[in-house]
Amino acid sequence: MAYGGYSYLDFRYEPDRENDFVVLFWAKSDASIEQTAEAIAAESSVGSWTKLSTMNDFVWKHYRARVFWLHKAGKNAGFIKIAYPIEHFDAKNILQFQASVLGNIFGLKELRELYVCDISFPKKYQKQFSGPKLGLPGMRRLVGTERDGRPHVGTIIKPKVGLTPKEWAHAAYEAYSGGLDLVKDDENLVDQEFCRWKDRLHEVVKAMENAGKETGQNHLYSSNITDRYSRMVERVDYLKACGLQRHVVVMLDTYVMGTSALQEILELTKKYGFATHGHRAGFAAANRGNFGVNFQVYEKLYRLLGIDQMHIGTGVGKMEGSPVTIKRLHDVAELRKLPEKFYLGALHMEFAEHIKPMLGIASGGVDAGKVDALIALHGLNTNLQAGAGVHGHPGGTRKGAMSLRQAVDAVMHGIPAREYAKTHPELAQAIAKWGYSNPLDVENALEHEKKNAKKLAALVLKKGRAAMDSE
Ligand code: 3PG
Repeated sequence: MAYGGYSYLDFRYEPDRENDFVVLFWAKSDASIEQTAEAIAAESSVGSWTKLSTMNDFVWKHYRARVFWLHKAGKNAGFIKIAYPIEHFDAKNILQFQASVLGNIFGLKELRELYVCDISFPKKYQKQFSGPKLGLPGMRRLVGTERDGRPHVGTIIKPKVGLTPKEWAHAAYEAYSGGLDLVKDDENLVDQEFCRWKDRLHEVVKAMENAGKETGQNHLYSSNITDRYSRMVERVDYLKACGLQRHVVVMLDTYVMGTSALQEILELTKKYGFATHGHRAGFAAANRGNFGVNFQVYEKLYRLLGIDQMHIGTGVGKMEGSPVTIKRLHDVAELRKLPEKFYLGALHMEFAEHIKPMLGIASGGVDAGKVDALIALHGLNTNLQAGAGVHGHPGGTRKGAMSLRQAVDAVMHGIPAREYAKTHPELAQAIAKWGYSNPLDVENALEHEKKNAKKLAALVLKKGRAAMDSE
């Protein structure tokens, strides 16, 4: 078996965790799975469709990818693990990594499906990155929750776009006064004419100060600066000139802005001492079809680059992702050692010790009645955000904010939300409008996964990616 004159199959090879990238692919093709594995390994490392007069032993030995594991699951389909030597990659240049492993291979015409399930980054590569400057502990310090360890609560001001700066800031004031820690711009609100970025910023800072006098706490505003690179730099410089490090979190639409700009902006925010908030809008375009990249791959990159708090989905809200899948994304944000979970297409990986955890953000279809279930899934180290679940509350924004905060307080007192609602009318109204998500459903799903890990893995090995836990 060979592709372009060379064989990349090396089933005796054992990857070296210090130096090798390991990638788990799912592929379905017109050719045999062995042939497909060869093609992927060739096109993503040193080879091409035919033999090369310029290939030499040194290149072949030091830079080629090795298919060290392959498992057929159906006709011309299967899982493939490929190891890439660190020498293949340009240190600190994530774009070169993306162009190699997440690049040309997706266009190979014989492929019917190609999905990058997960990547394990070697320790030596991780040393090139500094990770989050604040991360989870720093976000807790900013909000003042290091001691009680309660979940953070926030809101995305709605409507997504259209409010004037004063209207927007008024909603923010109501949300802060109702007990929320953070308000944020939506992913599609930046500097539109009806709500200029600077005008909104100053109005929100005033609202935050006024609310802080009532609540006695430090509130945060995640300000979306996503734009062409030079404008983002201007905005970060402006925030620095205003000295807003304790109040403004720099929000970035990480996927749509691209990794190059992200890396540069994160260098700047770290230098100036700003926390960062990553929104993953757009990633699902390359995640939900037959061709794509699982979000955990991007999430690992964002953690290495240094995002402090990151949207990871909810498992119980309006966005895709089952509780088991989202729990894995929570683990990628928070844990150092990630176990292999084959039924999720998740590889074993260890983050280097200097890479701090990120705070995972559960956002998308959240309301107070879902808080018990969200905590069952994400634990207390989470930032729970509700947009419509606050501003759609029958009593308005302030009462919506109160309902969300009450649900979190109930968790901290060990009282189920439905019980707490008997003495907290705002929470009761939220549950009456949107219902209550039972945490037992989440607990059962996680328990089922734990108890049946081997069976689930065997099923995926037999049936392929379609049997993987997803929605
Ligand atoms: C987000 O930024 O996550 C979404 O805008 C969430 O909005 P929602 O809480 O109204 O679903």
